[in-house]
Amino acid sequence: MDIKNLTIEEKLRLLIGFNRWQTNDANGKVPSLFLSDGPNGLRMMNVDTGETFKATVMPNISHLANTWDEDLAFLDGETIANECIEYGADVLLAPGVNIKRTPLCGRNFEYFSEDPYLSGVMAKSYIDGVQSKGIGTSLKHFCANNREYDRRYVSSEVDERTMREIYLPAFEKALEAKPWTVMNSYNQLNGVWLAENKKLLKDVLRDEFGFDGLVVSDWSASHSAWRSIKNGTDLLMPYREKDYVELKDAYDKGLLADEDIERAINRLFELINRCKTSDKKVVSYTKEERHNSALKIAKEGIVLLKNEDNILPLNAKNILVGGYHDAIGGGGSAQAITEYQSKSVYELVAEKLPNSNVSTCNGLLATRKLHEVYDLKDAVKQAVKNDVVVLSVSSYNETESLDRENAYLMREQEETILAVAKYNPNVVVVVNAGSYIDMSRWIDKVKAVVWAGFAGEASKEAVASVLTGETCPSGKLTETFPLAIEDTPTGYDIGDMFTNRYTEGIYVGYRWYEKYDIPVAFPFGHGLSYANFEYSNLKIEKIGETDYNVYVDVKNLSNIDAKEVVELYVKDVFSSVSRPEKELKGFKKVSLKAGETKTVKMSLNYRSFAFYSTMLDKWHIENGEFEILVGASSQDIRVKGVIDIELDEKEQYTLW
Ligand code: BGC
Repeated sequence: MDIKNLTIEEKLRLLIGFNRWQTNDANGKVPSLFLSDGPNGLRMMNVDTGETFKATVMPNISHLANTWDEDLAFLDGETIANECIEYGADVLLAPGVNIKRTPLCGRNFEYFSEDPYLSGVMAKSYIDGVQSKGIGTSLKHFCANNREYDRRYVSSEVDERTMREIYLPAFEKALEAKPWTVMNSYNQLNGVWLAENKKLLKDVLRDEFGFDGLVVSDWSASHSAWRSIKNGTDLLMPYREKDYVELKDAYDKGLLADEDIERAINRLFELINRCKTSDKKVVSYTKEERHNSALKIAKEGIVLLKNEDNILPLNAKNILVGGYHDAIGGGGSAQAITEYQSKSVYELVAEKLPNSNVSTCNGLLATRKLHEVYDLKDAVKQAVKNDVVVLSVSSYNETESLDRENAYLMREQEETILAVAKYNPNVVVVVNAGSYIDMSRWIDKVKAVVWAGFAGEASKEAVASVLTGETCPSGKLTETFPLAIEDTPTGYDIGDMFTNRYTEGIYVGYRWYEKYDIPVAFPFGHGLSYANFEYSNLKIEKIGETDYNVYVDVKNLSNIDAKEVVELYVKDVFSSVSRPEKELKGFKKVSLKAGETKTVKMSLNYRSFAFYSTMLDKWHIENGEFEILVGASSQDIRVKGVIDIELDEKEQYTLW
């Protein structure tokens, strides 16, 4: 592999794909790489037939996020990397860390959270997991691509502070894992395509964030091949002859210099070296073990949203279980295909509860196909005879390339819930979805809601395990569930066809609802357990000028083993600039045996207290008091303390 041995034609061909998934091999002089989706399990295609190989369908990224467990993010990445090794993929096109600005974004199931800190921390572990096996990752989509509608043309108009505080930090944090590639996004940012955005690709990504890998375009995201290469994209995917023609023409006209071409080729060579010389590429998990990883993550990402009268775990005599439970993931490039055949939730619950009469009926089976309802009368007849009814429902419209028009379940599924709830007061609804569902039409009529998320191929096993109490639920929401779409910062607004102004600024997700006192259905970080926890003994230890360790004792008050996600927020008590009520700056998932107490340690640093000052062009802390808030959700703070930060006077700019 020597750049000197390449003709200019070969060099230019190296800048574009060879086909949909492979890089060019410069007439056999350079090894070709196979890049493959995706975040929720390997979606590798046979390049000749277009057929997708069967793989382990992992819980979707949104579900992984709900575990709040960095070790599981590592396991997820490591598990998918095993499949990459087996099938011969060199780079996994994942993970995506775009912020969930609106619940209607059709691709939210592929993203972690509305919160940049959480997204960054989880993505970092996922990348570590994949790359620990000698497989590259592609941190995507860089950046401010927060909806699907018009994604190839729209310009996201975002102010500098909002970029710094909301849309860039997840990338910045995840970059600590040194992903081998970063994928830019389809949209424009403030009028410049991301594939050609020198400020973002060079000044921010390379010079400031220190990224040393290869920048790949999103598939056909480049509008001008030569401008993209010149301004910091290193590889244009997939193959398009027009890109080659354009590059050649630009080179002949002197628009593209040899140094631009060589810079990009050197990045590709570095990536090839990383991919082809790694001795870590050894399959360490069997197919069965991969399924077990999927199951472990699936169980821990399930969120118990509501559980009136402790109806769960199930312990009734007569239980009816049914519904539509086959939506295990979202659609588009992230949709992996499994050959795993799972038993139904009904069969699994029946097996786990041999002392109950567990039955099912087809009448509950409103599918997610429009207007397909079964015998609802029969369902109601069965519901009357049982003590509890468990009903699975699934969202029907979450996919790449499309935003959702609304956040309701299909009418038929809502009708089924309402009909059954009319005749049985003990209904448990299991929701399979990748992003917020508006439950307002039925939630008051049911006793419990289990958020099964998009839990992958092990979804049914995981749900049955939670329903029966074999697994104590420990997932928590990583996006706020509002009362209605109208309450969200963006509502139903889709911009003006050309631009999408981020007028809410830094007030995204819980930052928005808290700032403007908007009540929500379920707050960010919410999730119930079958156990109860007590928080006490908050200690804040100063270990550097702006570095602190935070300790809190968490006790499991119940007689079952359980896990709790401990959330750490920081509030700037008074600030000269507008700031969120509080922001997530740490978290830890802790496992507690019945009655056990553990001291949980989390850390804070400069960035935990700073805002981005566009006047100083840097992160800045304003002296004063900061509240340290630790709790079970953003709206359930259990213990708090206050610290006073007094930095050198020379660093301060206000007279307060
Ligand atoms: C998606 C990427 C994906 C790529 C390759 C694009 O349309 O936005 O996330 O990795 O296709 O399938």
